[in-house]
Amino acid sequence: MDDALVIGGTRFIGRHLVEDLLAHDYDVTILNRGTHENPFADDDRVSRIEGDRTNDSALEAAAIEADPDAVFDCVAYYPKDVQAATRIFDDCEAYVYISSGAAYGREEIPKREGETPLESCTADQAADDSGETYGPRKAEGDRAIFAAAERGVNAMAVRPCIVYGPHDYTERLDFWIDRVNRFDRVVVPGDGTNVWHRAYVEDVATALRVVAEQGDAGEAYNVGDRRLVTLEEMVDLIAAELDTSVEVVTAGPRELEAGEIEPDDYVLYREYPHVLSTAKLADLGWESTPLEEAMARSVADFLESDRDGSEHDPGRENEERVLGILDTF
Ligand SMILES: NC(=O)c1ccc[n+]([C@@H]2O[C@H](COP(=O)([O-])OP(=O)(O)OC[C@H]3O[C@@H](n4cnc5c(N)ncnc54)[C@H](OP(=O)(O)O)[C@@H]3O)[C@@H](O)[C@H]2O)c1
Repeated sequence: MDDALVIGGTRFIGRHLVEDLLAHDYDVTILNRGTHENPFADDDRVSRIEGDRTNDSALEAAAIEADPDAVFDCVAYYPKDVQAATRIFDDCEAYVYISSGAAYGREEIPKREGETPLESCTADQAADDSGETYGPRKAEGDRAIFAAAERGVNAMAVRPCIVYGPHDYTERLDFWIDRVNRFDRVVVPGDGTNVWHRAYVEDVATALRVVAEQGDAGEAYNVGDRRLVTLEEMVDLIAAELDTSVEVVTAGPRELEAGEIEPDDYVLYREYPHVLSTAKLADLGWESTPLEEAMARSVADFLESDRDGSEHDPGRENEERVLGILDTF
């Protein structure tokens, strides 16, 4: 495979994917609307086609102009997007859809491809644009992959858990880096052992390429850090990278009440652990970046950026009230 088409490609996962593909000698074309700045504008190794992927005619034009061997779909949020792409790119050597760990429909540890049931999706949900239907829509996209493979298309899905790393516009990890950077005492909801599986973005990019090159048609592959850390361990990792030390103050629902905060108000906190098995992807030879290195690159990018994660802030004054209550015990 020599020619890759990345649908998206300028913002987060797709941006890292383009870099990974270039490093592995692919000729890369990106397809996007041009509402986000193109970081590859001055890179003559990357061609760009302007178009909205929700218009089939834009995908059809890209199929002719780029004539790709491999297509990576970073912008499929509706089952119809996957259905259209697997029809239009049906003769490509590989089509890889970015699904999500949110496609799983049952809480179990770990969630495994082909074993853990997927969310169901009604016709109304398939066309709905709210956050609540994200998982069902992603699951229905996976089923479109399975159906395309039945028709002979070499289509595959990759299911990342929460993705973090440089250029992460969601600022979820940035909230925690900012907390550790600014305060001596960091409030962690629960008892600190909460686990929400995360995936370093460069490893997600590698996974997409490895699956295109070596994955089997109709299969889905989870991707997440090989080593998982609890929320408290994540804070410790950040502190080590910032060369600082913080006191982690764990606070359960009762203590948080003093600040009118609920555990769920904290980003990256989830009561029931979300863990994806990554064994199937590792069997393809995929490896993940050591956590310390992934965190070092994430922290370095945070320090160079103007992101602070403040949109996720439950309010420091509220936290001070919680800390005040805890100090009296
Ligand atoms: N981030 C996570 O934690 C996470 C976790 C699991 C799964 N995922 C999945 O990973 C995929 C990529 O996520 P991301 O966060 O990396 O996305 P992203 O950075 O927001 O991707 C946006 C890219 O797609 C382009 N784009 C957006 N709408 C478009 C359209 N209608 N037509 C053509 N191009 C369009 C954007 O450029 P223009 O705006 O210029 O068009 C940009 O290049 C998504 O499918 C998401 O569901 C993400």
